[in-house]
Amino acid sequence: MSTTIDVESQSPPQLARAPLPNVAPCTVVIFGASGDLARSKLIPAFFNLACEGCPSGEFNVLGVGRTEMTDEKFQVQMRDAVSSAKDARGFTDERWAEFAKRLRYLTGDPSDDGVHKEIAARLEEMYTNKADDVARNYLFYLSTPSSVAKQIIVGLGAAGLASEERGWSRIIIEKPFGRDLDSARELNETVERVFTEQQVYRIDHFLGKETLQNLLVFRFGNGLFEPLWNRNYVDYVEITAAENLGVGSRAAFYEETGALRDVIANHLLQVLTLTAMEPPVAFDADAVREKKLEVLRSIQPMRPKEVRERTVRGQYIRGDVEGESVPGYREEKKVAKDSRMETFAAIQFQIDNWRWAGVPFYLRSGKHLTGKLTEIAVHLKRTPQALFAHTHEGEGKVHDIEPNVIVVQIQPQEAIRISFGAKLPGVKMETGTVELAFNYESTFHRRSPDAYETLLLDAIQGDPTLFTRRDEVEEQWRLITPIEEAWASGESAPPIAFYEAGTNGPAEADALLARNGHTWRHIDGKH
Ligand code: BG6
Repeated sequence: MSTTIDVESQSPPQLARAPLPNVAPCTVVIFGASGDLARSKLIPAFFNLACEGCPSGEFNVLGVGRTEMTDEKFQVQMRDAVSSAKDARGFTDERWAEFAKRLRYLTGDPSDDGVHKEIAARLEEMYTNKADDVARNYLFYLSTPSSVAKQIIVGLGAAGLASEERGWSRIIIEKPFGRDLDSARELNETVERVFTEQQVYRIDHFLGKETLQNLLVFRFGNGLFEPLWNRNYVDYVEITAAENLGVGSRAAFYEETGALRDVIANHLLQVLTLTAMEPPVAFDADAVREKKLEVLRSIQPMRPKEVRERTVRGQYIRGDVEGESVPGYREEKKVAKDSRMETFAAIQFQIDNWRWAGVPFYLRSGKHLTGKLTEIAVHLKRTPQALFAHTHEGEGKVHDIEPNVIVVQIQPQEAIRISFGAKLPGVKMETGTVELAFNYESTFHRRSPDAYETLLLDAIQGDPTLFTRRDEVEEQWRLITPIEEAWASGESAPPIAFYEAGTNGPAEADALLARNGHTWRHIDGKH
């Protein structure tokens, strides 16, 4: 039995979006502009920001990509993308016409040395007829495979575009940042030779999600929860990023990447650090990132034997997703018929510090699961005494009150839910589980900005708090690389666990938790 008690007692009046800050004009250069991310996220985010007058004044976007296109063709493609993007708010022909004027495109292979000089010339052209003292503020966005990033960075340096003599120059680098510890270090060294750390923004868009930012407020802005947030009260923590979609048009990327590198190595490890970190001394970039780093440092990389015991890798086979039959991963276009790439991964991490010793953190992510769900579930321990044993009715059995769970839901809803036991009305002592729920949208009556909008705005304003620092990225790979290596070597690898598309994932993932007497929450959001 589950009842929801909404904490908002009275609906607040309709609120407009908080005004955006006044941000200096700049030019954004997107490498990989003909790719999926530019279409689905970046251009829609810039459109939304521009509609609200941000950045102010002269603001332009130059797309760079290998696909041959004119400015006009790029504008038409982006129009389609923006008008159909689920996050596009207030799309109108007039607004688009205004925005389209700011979009330009340059055909070129970013790995080709000459292209950076062309970019520099094209940027200079945009400032023709402008006073000499107009700041040249450039934001470079690398939405390209990490293997190409190195050449772009070196090329930007050689073309003088990293220089901050006439304005600021910043670079955003998409994840995955490298593909293992060595390549991440190498990429960091290349970046450092051209840009200072203050100019570098390693993006992990999960950090721009509203509920994750709220996690810090929830934990460190309230006296209620923090005393419970440790091994004395917490039994285990689950972090899930489940998707009902398959690999779709990104199969080639996915064949190189897999669920571990794509989501767990960055997004979910970042969620873990925010869930587990100590309070920072201040809410500023370095204080927060220092505490996140400590969490990663407190995790020991796995030995091969532990990889076998604490990791699960899965791959979807044909099944039904939302009533539609979908092909298995190996049947997807651009996927090898005998591909061993994982589309699902579940990992148990242990944080060896005073706060968390002995508390397992289970991370899982997968494609073509039963639904889209991103959440953190903090399961508290049972009460020491079972005073109300045999009073709780659930699933046909009579048992004790369920332990409390604090769920921070990131997607599809942005919410915090706390479940606890309560007496059912009636003369008999019967208990049930009820829920105290806070929902962002119904409480504040306004939509949260898309994560990319938040992060792009932060980068333009020069605030790196929600970006990953060099040492964090390397620590992440220190933990992930031994798992990737063990999986690749085969010897200590768990076998690939196949799961039907449209399910909760492989049974092996359930067995991982069952060994410790734990269970995952269902991906459809139910217990
Ligand atoms: C991306 C991954 O970083 O995150 C994708 O490359 C994944 O594979 C996506 O689908 C999930 O992001 P979101 O914001 O939709 O949960």
